[in-house]
Amino acid sequence: MFELKNKVALVTGARRGMGQAHALALAGQGAKVAVTDISLEECQKVVEEIKAQGGEAAAWKLDVTNQAEIDQVFGEVVKKWGRLDILVNNAGIFKPKMALEMTEADWDQTLDINLKGEFFCAQRAAKEMAKNKWGRIINIASIASGGVGVGVMAASHYTASKGGIVGLTETLAQEWAPLGINVNVIGPGAIDTPMISEAQMSKEVMDAFLANVPLKRIGKAEEVAAMVVFLASEEASYVTGATFFVDGGWLAA
Ligand SMILES: NC(=O)c1ccc[n+]([C@@H]2O[C@H](COP(=O)([O-])OP(=O)(O)OC[C@H]3O[C@@H](n4cnc5c(N)ncnc54)[C@H](O)[C@@H]3O)[C@@H](O)[C@H]2O)c1
Repeated sequence: MFELKNKVALVTGARRGMGQAHALALAGQGAKVAVTDISLEECQKVVEEIKAQGGEAAAWKLDVTNQAEIDQVFGEVVKKWGRLDILVNNAGIFKPKMALEMTEADWDQTLDINLKGEFFCAQRAAKEMAKNKWGRIINIASIASGGVGVGVMAASHYTASKGGIVGLTETLAQEWAPLGINVNVIGPGAIDTPMISEAQMSKEVMDAFLANVPLKRIGKAEEVAAMVVFLASEEASYVTGATFFVDGGWLAA
């Protein structure tokens, strides 16, 4: 099960953190992986890691806010490997800002990367996937996406972007089901990545959060990557338009 041989995957935001784990996990199941992010050099290091483990991968610089670059990179990936089967829309930023201090530039930057970027990468991917009547698009949101009672201080732009991802996924799942493309969301809880360390949460905030998580620890990127592999696989054939939380039980507590 969960074999991805002969599949081609593209992961955005894959130079580090969860994107890196997703790229490694997909390659581990046999997929050829396009490792993309804003830094080509750092993507190249992930490619070397994949190759050292016997996998196949290549690196591209891809800023998901740049429409021309999206078109070009997806085109180059298809030229190299002949197809595109799996997209992991992982690129995202979290720059804490209280709502009363939020500027238009803050708001636009977060929405452009986290929401608009996911939409236009999905649209470009779907054009390729439709040719083979098979595709898997995995959109990374967050438990901070509305509807589940998790508001996050200083994150109105972030939560709006992540809630938007859930909404657009439900629509894309309907529009693209006839094309053989399944579209789903993963909503991680708190996962140990550079994003969390850069947000510089105080020990008190972290302890208070862990007190609410039944598994009493922060998650690992690999624990989210396992869900990515499942949703990318043939075995997820009857799963579309759904949101899966990987949160250590946070929402159940
Ligand atoms: N870490 C968490 O606790 C957590 C929780 C819920 C959701 N998420 C989401 O998971 C995803 C991965 O985050 P992470 O925790 O690994 O953080 P991270 O900061 O380590 O990784 C995010 C990646 O996105 C890339 N990126 C930023 N702007 C980009 C752009 N314009 N174009 C392309 N790539 C860009 C960054 O360079 C970085 O490599 C994000 O969408 C994030 O919102 C993270």
